Amino acid sequence: MERLDKILANTGRWSRKEVRELVRAGRVAVNGVPVHSPEGKWDPAAEFAVDGVSVSGERMVYLMLHKPAGLVSATEDPKQPTVLELLPDHLKRVGLFPAGRLDKDTEGLLLLTNDGVLAHRLLAPRRHVDKTYFVQVEGQLDETDVEAFSTGMTLGDGLVCMPAGLEVLGQPDTAIVTLREGKYHQIKRMLASRGKPVRYLKRLTMGPLKLDPALKRGEWRPLTEEEMAALRLAAGV
Ligand code: URA
Repeated sequence: MERLDKILANTGRWSRKEVRELVRAGRVAVNGVPVHSPEGKWDPAAEFAVDGVSVSGERMVYLMLHKPAGLVSATEDPKQPTVLELLPDHLKRVGLFPAGRLDKDTEGLLLLTNDGVLAHRLLAPRRHVDKTYFVQVEGQLDETDVEAFSTGMTLGDGLVCMPAGLEVLGQPDTAIVTLREGKYHQIKRMLASRGKPVRYLKRLTMGPLKLDPALKRGEWRPLTEEEMAALRLAAGV
C-alpha cells in the first residue's frame, strides 16, 4: 500500500503538490469513489481516475538507452538476446518495451518505457515527430539522392515513403537522414533502392530527445525532468 499522492506523482504527470490540489478539489476517484485525502493509502493496482479519466497507478518508467548492435528491440525473443537484457532485474519486471524499434545491427537512441499512451502518440506519423540517423553507405551520396529523399520515394517493393531529409556530410559516404515514420528497414530499403546499401546506421535523435554523448554503447539512464516535459509536449500528452 502506498500514499495516494505518491502513487499519482509517480506516474510523472503531476507533482505531489499538484496531486494534493487535485485531490482536495474532489477531482480524484479511487475504484470509482471520489477521495479527499492525499495521504490515504492504496494498492497501486487499484483503479484511479482524475476528472473521470482513468490513470494507471503503476509506476511509469522512461529510460534512454544507447543500443549496441547485436540485440533485438523486443521484450522477448525465442532465439536472440533483447535490449531488456541490459537492464537490472528490478527494471525487467515493470513492463518496459522499446518505443520505436531499431534493427538488430542498428545502434543508438532507444526509448524504453511502460507508458503505452506516450509511446503510441510519439510514434504516430501524424504527430510528425522526426527521428534522425547517422548513416554510412557503400558508394557516394549525391544531389540526386537528396532530391529523391525530399520528394518522397516509392520503392520497387511498393513501399511509399513520406518525404525525408538527407544531408550529405563531409565524407560523401556519410549523411544524416531525417524520417517522420518508421517502416520496417526503412532507411536500408530507401538507400538500397538508390544502389547505395547501408553499412552502418545509428539513431541520434527522436523528437526532442538526443542521444546523451556520455552514454557508451549498452548504457542507459532515466530521462531528466526536462526531457520528459519536452517529450510530452512533442507527443501531445
Ligand atoms: N531504418 C532502418 O533501416 N533500420 C533501423 O533500424 C531504423 C531505420
